[in-house]
Amino acid sequence: MFSNSMQRLGDRFRQAVQMSFGDECPFDEQWIKPCNDPRFGDYQFNGALPLAKSLKKKPRDIAETLAAAVELGDISAPPEIAGPGFLNIRLTDAYLAEALTSIPAEQADSEYDRLGLQFDDETETVVVDMSSPNLAKEMHVGHLRSTVIGESVARILEFAGHTVERVNHVGDWGTQFGMLITQLRDVNPQVISDPDSLAIGDLEAFYVEAKKAFDGSKDFADRARQAVVQLQSGDEETLAVWRAFCNESLRHCHAIYDLLRISKLVDRGESFYNEQLAATVQELTDAGMVETSDGAECIFLDDFKNRDGNPLPMIVRKSDGGFNYSATDLAAVRHRLRVIGATRLIYVVGIPQQQHFAMLFAAIRKSGWAGSNVRLEHLAFGSMLGADGKPFKTRDGGTVKLKNLLEEAVQAARTAIDERQGDDDDRALSESQKQAISEAVGLGAVKYADLTHSLTTDYRFDMKQMLSFEGNTAPYMLYAYARIRSIGRKAGIDFDTLPSDAPITIEHDSEVALAKMIARFPEVISQIVRDLRPNVLTEYLYELSKAFSRFYDRRHGVRITDAEPESTRMSRLRLCQITARTIKSGLYLLGIDTIEQM
Ligand code: ARG
Repeated sequence: MFSNSMQRLGDRFRQAVQMSFGDECPFDEQWIKPCNDPRFGDYQFNGALPLAKSLKKKPRDIAETLAAAVELGDISAPPEIAGPGFLNIRLTDAYLAEALTSIPAEQADSEYDRLGLQFDDETETVVVDMSSPNLAKEMHVGHLRSTVIGESVARILEFAGHTVERVNHVGDWGTQFGMLITQLRDVNPQVISDPDSLAIGDLEAFYVEAKKAFDGSKDFADRARQAVVQLQSGDEETLAVWRAFCNESLRHCHAIYDLLRISKLVDRGESFYNEQLAATVQELTDAGMVETSDGAECIFLDDFKNRDGNPLPMIVRKSDGGFNYSATDLAAVRHRLRVIGATRLIYVVGIPQQQHFAMLFAAIRKSGWAGSNVRLEHLAFGSMLGADGKPFKTRDGGTVKLKNLLEEAVQAARTAIDERQGDDDDRALSESQKQAISEAVGLGAVKYADLTHSLTTDYRFDMKQMLSFEGNTAPYMLYAYARIRSIGRKAGIDFDTLPSDAPITIEHDSEVALAKMIARFPEVISQIVRDLRPNVLTEYLYELSKAFSRFYDRRHGVRITDAEPESTRMSRLRLCQITARTIKSGLYLLGIDTIEQM
């Protein structure tokens, strides 16, 4: 069975611990770790030290007891005791061969190629709050990060069997819409009679013009304020203009989502919760959580202080009676818990909103709305900087339009591909093939570069580096995939029709190393499901493709298409095919489409 080796080892050690020290003895899955140094083994059990503490015994004695008790015959060689009481575990070739042989053929009708993996953890409903730009303006790079990270996390959770709802919590409400509505009425009066006709080429410029009018004319500002009042009181005509604006802005967003192949994002903006705000705050008031302070309704939470050390309130209703961003987020949590039935809420939002989410989560905990099984997580990310390390801006200091950025990446990929074509004459690609490759490589490069960095670090957007065929980049990974696929083509073999029951044998050390890398895929996924770090997957894929390169190398690796006897050839071809499937599946989990030829 192809499954999570770490989890299997964990189960066996749990049994051994309970058998040796009683059913009540504590056990922690985290005591099984991959070995840092493969010379010592593949995994390590390091629970003897904590167990020694709680059982008041010597770690070495515990290690010896467990080494004798644990049943690992079908997985590994007998564990070796090292240092103060670590147990080193080395998977057997037979275990690896059996695990890989059991991988079934790809299911054609499934979105994900799970390689036959089954996740026996309980599944849950997860909401991923992602992308979520403000509709008043153009999407910016922060939203690109949120979109790319959110999509990857959502796919990984779905892969592991969870039900995921991706929510686009767009900013479609607030006083700035009064200004935009007034500008629309002045500049595009036809929008009133024909809202669908609205087309704004440049949302950013439109916003700037509206702001200029607002700051420059008292009459305009008065009308803008009035529009806010009309909007809030549900005036039909005002709502129609507002809706026309939001729809147009959403069209801009969706042009980008289409380009990025983001298809399951549900637009459910702030305005969706308007009707629920009063009831939400009322419920918290009834629970005694809301106090009036300086005319505003506030929630005071322990541990939140301002710079002067005074309590820092979470304002939910301003002194003018308007509900705010926090109130909307409280209502959204309520909806997600009660209507959607989610038990895990993930917010993919930049670091600057850390305090907002910390307070939101504290308020939710205090309210008792979320049971102890509910996880609330702010997946905070750092900034994307320009190649010079400065904030990401156009040359004249403006915001970079995402659409332009992505198109530039595709263009740059095209240039890189044309240059490579020059060196290699036997690959004649058609114009449409080149275009498809450029899109996959260009967009893949942007996504991959974003996901290779640990989330909280700022990183430089460096087109040259992300399009390089060397290092841990999308082009490298896509090329690694295409190359494996071409091995099959060159040998006249269709990988997709290899008999999926042909036994895999593991002999050569490059084969062992490759098999071990493939076998790690399930635990990598499980880890990300737990701690939501997609860069663990990019690192894994890079290591996997390096292991493949060694296996395929004429000098350090093995013969493949001309291997003998036939059973060995078949085994190695299957290893190629499974490696390709793992890379393809992994890249898909990062939101990246593979290409068959490069
Ligand atoms: N619209 C916000 C922004 O552009 C992000 C919203 C994040 N999601 C949320 N539920 N607060 O900064």
